[in-house]
Amino acid sequence: MQADPQHKTIRMTVLMSPDMANFSGNVHGGAMLRLLDQVAYACASRYSGTYVVTLSVDQVFFLKPVHVGELVTFLASINYTGRTSMEVGMRVMAENIRERTERHVMTCYFTMIAVDAQGNPTTVPPVQTNDATEQRRFREAQLRRQLRREIEQRTQEIKAQGQRSVEPHINDTP
Ligand SMILES: CC(C)(COP(=O)(O)OP(=O)(O)OC[C@H]1O[C@@H](n2cnc3c(N)ncnc32)[C@H](O)[C@@H]1OP(=O)(O)O)[C@@H](O)C(=O)NCCC(=O)NCCS
Repeated sequence: MQADPQHKTIRMTVLMSPDMANFSGNVHGGAMLRLLDQVAYACASRYSGTYVVTLSVDQVFFLKPVHVGELVTFLASINYTGRTSMEVGMRVMAENIRERTERHVMTCYFTMIAVDAQGNPTTVPPVQTNDATEQRRFREAQLRRQLRREIEQRTQEIKAQGQRSVEPHINDTP
């Protein structure tokens, strides 16, 4: 087993039970999101030694269905730390127990914020990158952090443009 002195990584395996199914019999997207959030919480809270809250979840694509009866493993790691924020990267694998086949079903990124007892952001230990993979994850997380800000800014611009375009209708009184 690889050493993890900073407690940066966590692994959780869950059996997909019938109560997680949607109307087509596959696992409900909401059930997966709930598990993803739990894993992100556990990974970030254990790493920082604080309570943490979810600030954002990057685009989540359910590219392949997950089936009831499969074992799903969530592999999470702290990719990046800011002053109070942590990016948790998650790789999700689904295993067909009887066939013993495994497939990658999802990769996603959560931004978690460490908070104190009053709910105010509090500092986290800077993540150490010990090998080429961790360095790559850190660099990519920095780029995603920048991308999130750009998306937020662009989204606000789109919203402002939309509001300007509907204003004549709002004021369109006879
Ligand atoms: C997360 C929360 C504590 C941040 O509060 P805040 O007053 O914005 O705090 P700060 O301005 O000090 O920012 C804290 C961190 O969040 C990041 N952040 C805050 N708003 C952000 C935004 N819109 N986009 C990107 N990052 C943001 C900051 O960059 C900072 O990270 P850093 O210290 O690593 O640089 C607050 O927004 C909150 O309580 N949100 C609700 C969380 C929650 O309930 N989640 C569950 C949803 S049901």
